[in-house]
Amino acid sequence: MKQCQSSFWPRVIVNFSMSADGKVSTRNWTPSGFGSAEDRRRLQEIRARGDAIMVGRKTAEIDQMRMGISLADLRARRQAAGKPAEPLRVLVSARGLLDPRMKVFSAMRAPLLIFTACNLLLRMQSKFPEGVIINVLTERSFSVRTILRVLRFQYHVRTLVCEGGPTLMRSLLEVDAVAEVNLTIEPLIFGGCRAPTLSGLLDKFLGRPIRFQIESIEVKEGACFLRYARRAKRHPRISRAMPTI
Ligand SMILES: NC(=O)c1ccc[n+]([C@@H]2O[C@H](COP(=O)([O-])OP(=O)(O)OC[C@H]3O[C@@H](n4cnc5c(N)ncnc54)[C@H](OP(=O)(O)O)[C@@H]3O)[C@@H](O)[C@H]2O)c1
Repeated sequence: MKQCQSSFWPRVIVNFSMSADGKVSTRNWTPSGFGSAEDRRRLQEIRARGDAIMVGRKTAEIDQMRMGISLADLRARRQAAGKPAEPLRVLVSARGLLDPRMKVFSAMRAPLLIFTACNLLLRMQSKFPEGVIINVLTERSFSVRTILRVLRFQYHVRTLVCEGGPTLMRSLLEVDAVAEVNLTIEPLIFGGCRAPTLSGLLDKFLGRPIRFQIESIEVKEGACFLRYARRAKRHPRISRAMPTI
């Protein structure tokens, strides 16, 4: 039987906070600043489930994130389970426009894998701290499919937590790679069509809808926390061929 492509990829969990009208950033794509204390705690818990955490270049740059686990109890729990205290970190930048002064390069408590199509970045290796591993893919092979495959087989990543942004999320949705979506709905609405949703801008449809089912809903400290799981894909041709017993 032909093996399903997704079995060659890690399980992808995504996490976003958004306004009640679905915006994950502002019209100028500045840091949203939505997150409550509870949201930040959950973000850390979701991170702690991953073998790796992945973001796109602009999220790392705009949000100036470290992509680490700062809570001691979560670090200890991972270690007790035989894992490194912090997951691997993964940064996606096809063009390799990376400023070594970004915060993500300042706290090197876990290795940082860069996926790029820019050969020149290898020449900049000495500008990055130890622990930064530059993976150059050819322009032709550069895609989230390839990145997911390399993460699974070269870096043994079974669970990948993606924290956006919308551009990276969209490419994951386009190849139907997302298994779980965690959303924090913050109690504010600001309208506008230039602020992105988690799949990018409002005027851009996905090739086809990706269906999820709700797994949990919780309201805490004024925000709503939702978890969705990808609905099992149907294989109509296989089921039609099944003999009826
Ligand atoms: N509310 C939330 O939970 C949340 C979460 C994350 C981000 N955000 C917000 O989202 C905004 C940033 O959005 P964004 O869509 O620009 O962020 P992004 O996806 O993090 O970054 C886009 C950049 O990442 C690289 N990239 C992403 N996907 C790629 C792919 N499939 N192939 C090749 N390169 C890829 C490219 O870098 P190069 O140009 O270097 O090639 C691209 O320009 C910020 O305002 C941030 O605050 C909000």
